[in-house]
Amino acid sequence: MNDNSWLKTHAAMSLNRLLPRLEARFADQVEDDEWEGYLNRLRQHFPRLFSGLHALYGEHYDFFYYLESILASATEMWIHRPKELMALDALREIDPQWYQSQRMIGAMCYVDLFAGNLAGLRERIPYLTGLGVNYLHLMPVFKVPAGDNDGGYAVSDYREVNTALGTMEELAGLASELRHHGISLCLDFVFNHTSDEHEWARRALDGDTEYQHYYRMFPDRVLPDAYEQTLTPVFPDEHPGSFTYRNRLKKWVWTTFNNYQWDLNYANPMVFNRMLEEMLFLANQGVEILRLDAVAFVWKRLGTDCQNLPEAHVIIQAFNALVSIAAPAMVFKSEAIVHPDEVRKYISEEECQLSYNPQLMALLWNSLATRKVDILRHAMQQGFAIPASCAWVNYVRCHDDIGFSFSDEDLRHSGYDPASHRRFLTEFFTGRFPGSFARGIPFQENLTTGEARITGTCAALSGLEKALEEDDEQQIELAIQRILLLHGIILTIGGIPLIYLGDEIGMLNDYGYERDADKVGDTRWLHRAAFDWTRAEACREPDTIPGRINQDLLRLIQIRQQNPALDRAETEIVDSGNEHVFAYFRTNGDHSVLVLANFSETPQPIEGRRLRLLGLRKSVVDLVAGRTIVAAHSLEMEPYDFMILARPVSP
Ligand code: GLC
Ligand code: GLC
Repeated sequence: MNDNSWLKTHAAMSLNRLLPRLEARFADQVEDDEWEGYLNRLRQHFPRLFSGLHALYGEHYDFFYYLESILASATEMWIHRPKELMALDALREIDPQWYQSQRMIGAMCYVDLFAGNLAGLRERIPYLTGLGVNYLHLMPVFKVPAGDNDGGYAVSDYREVNTALGTMEELAGLASELRHHGISLCLDFVFNHTSDEHEWARRALDGDTEYQHYYRMFPDRVLPDAYEQTLTPVFPDEHPGSFTYRNRLKKWVWTTFNNYQWDLNYANPMVFNRMLEEMLFLANQGVEILRLDAVAFVWKRLGTDCQNLPEAHVIIQAFNALVSIAAPAMVFKSEAIVHPDEVRKYISEEECQLSYNPQLMALLWNSLATRKVDILRHAMQQGFAIPASCAWVNYVRCHDDIGFSFSDEDLRHSGYDPASHRRFLTEFFTGRFPGSFARGIPFQENLTTGEARITGTCAALSGLEKALEEDDEQQIELAIQRILLLHGIILTIGGIPLIYLGDEIGMLNDYGYERDADKVGDTRWLHRAAFDWTRAEACREPDTIPGRINQDLLRLIQIRQQNPALDRAETEIVDSGNEHVFAYFRTNGDHSVLVLANFSETPQPIEGRRLRLLGLRKSVVDLVAGRTIVAAHSLEMEPYDFMILARPVSP
C-alpha cells in the first residue's frame, strides 16, 4: 500500500489539511514575504518529510496528531529564529555547497581545555584565524552531571550551558562573533541518549510513565537478554552488556555507552518531536554544522546488532527535511564510526551532507605502521567517492579512540589476516611491537582476542614522544615528518580537513588523567590535555619543535587555500608504482595536481615512465618544496616526503 503514488497522494492531502491550521496559528507573527518563503520550503520538503514520518510512525493510531505537532514545533522554532540567521539562510540558498570550498579549514577543541570558558574562547579567535580556521567544532558545552560525564556527552539540558563554561547567551554571542570572523560554529547534537539527570529521566525516575516511554526500559531481564544475544558492547570496560539496572525504577534501562547515558526511544514519536525542538533551538543559537553524535545507534530491533538500522537513516532524513524547512543554513555531519559501507549510507544531501572519514583516518595510521599503502589505496579507490554535493571531514586525530574499523574484505584483498593484522596494529601503536615508534595506550582492550582501540596524541603516536625521551634528533625529525605527512593528506585529498587543536603544535600525551577519579579508566583522556599556550608561543621560533611542525603545517594550509585545483575538485586515487607511496590527482576544470606521499623512512623512487603514463611531463613543480623537479628517469622522494606536483595543462 505504501507505494510512491499512495505516499504522494496522502502527503498532498495531509499538507492541504495542515496548511490552513498552521496559517491561522502562525502567519500573522511574521512578515508576509517571510511567511511565503517558509511555505515554499515547506511545500518543497514536505513530501519527503511525510514519507519518513509515515514510515516511522504511520502505525500509530494518532499519527496525524504527531504530524501536526511536529510541523507546529518546526514553525514555532523558525518564528523565533534570529534575523541574522534568517539572512544566513537566504545566503546559503544561493551557495548551498559552501562547505566544498578549498578555503575550508576545520578545528576542534574542548572549550575548557582550550580556553577556560566561552569568554576565554572569544579571546582566542585570533589564534584560530591565524591558522586559517573557518569551521570550529566545540565539544559539548551543555549542562552535565558533576564528575564523570563522558567528556560532556551525557547531556542534562540541551538549552543550558555548563555554568563552568558560560551561558547560552554567551554561546549565541560567540557563534555570531565567530561568524563575523568567517568561522562557522559546529556543535554536537547528542541525540541517541540523555544523561540520567535530564528532566525527562528525572521524571521517569519519579515514576511518570509518559517519560518512562521516552527511554527504553524493561521490567526484567527477558528482553535485555534476548537483545544481548546480538549486541556488541561499546564500552565493555565500563559495564558489561548494554543495559543498567535502576533499583528506584526496578527496571533495566538501555544504556549503550556509560550507565548514566540513557538511550532515547525514537519509536515514540513524542521523543522525535521533543528532540526536534532541542535541535532547532541549537540551530537558532547560530550553529551552522550540527554533528550528529553516535548516529548508528538510534534505532533498535531484536535479533540485530542494533546499529545502522534502516530506521536510523529515516530519522535523520526526517530531521534533515525539517531543518531544510526551518533552519536551512544548518548542515548535518554524521558521526558513524562503523564499517565503511555503513558510514557511506549516511551521506547524501537529504541525510548528512558531511561525514567523518574514519576509514581514511584509521588507514593513514595503518600505513604509518606498515610503511605500505596497499590497503589505503585499494580502500580509497573503492570507497572515497561520495555524492558531489557532500563532503568528507578528514581527520588525523579527534577526542576519541582510534578503532581499526576498516573492512575485513579490504584487509583480505591485500593479503592480510584481519584478526592478526588488527592485533599487530594494537601492538604497534601501544609501543609493544619491537621497533615501534608509537606511544599509545589501549582503549577497551579485549584480553581474549587481543583486539583493542588506541588512544594517544598525534605526536605521541607518530614517534615524537619516544624520540624526545631518547633525545634522538634523527627520530625527532622523522616524527615531525610523519605528523606533516598525515596532515598533508587530510588537507588535500578532498573534503574538509579537521585539525584536533594541539596537534598543530605537536602536543604529547597527558598521563595526569590516571590520578583523576572522574577520568581514570577512560584512556581517551590521554589525548585530552589542557592546550599548551607556552608551546603555542614557541611556534614563532622556527627552530623549536612546535615551530618546525607549525610553520610547515601553515604552509600546507596556505597551499590548500590558494590552489584552485583543490576547490570542489575530483579525487582520483592512482597507483604510484611504489608500494610505499600513496598518490592521487585532484582535478578541477583546467587545474590539476598530483599528490604523492611517501609512508616510509627510506627514500623512494617513482619511475619517470610511470609519471608520464599519468600525464606528467619531465619537469614538474613541487608546490610544497617550492621547486621545479626534472624527473626524466625517476623522481626521488625523501623519507616521509609529501609532494604536491602541479600537472601541466595538456595543450
Ligand atoms: C560519540 C562521542 C564519544 C562519546 C559517544 C557517546 O562517539 O564522540 O566521545 O563517548 O559518542 O556519546
Ligand atoms: C562512538 C563509536 C565508537 C567509539 C565510541 C567513543 O560512537 O561508535 O567506535 O569508540 O563511540 O569512543
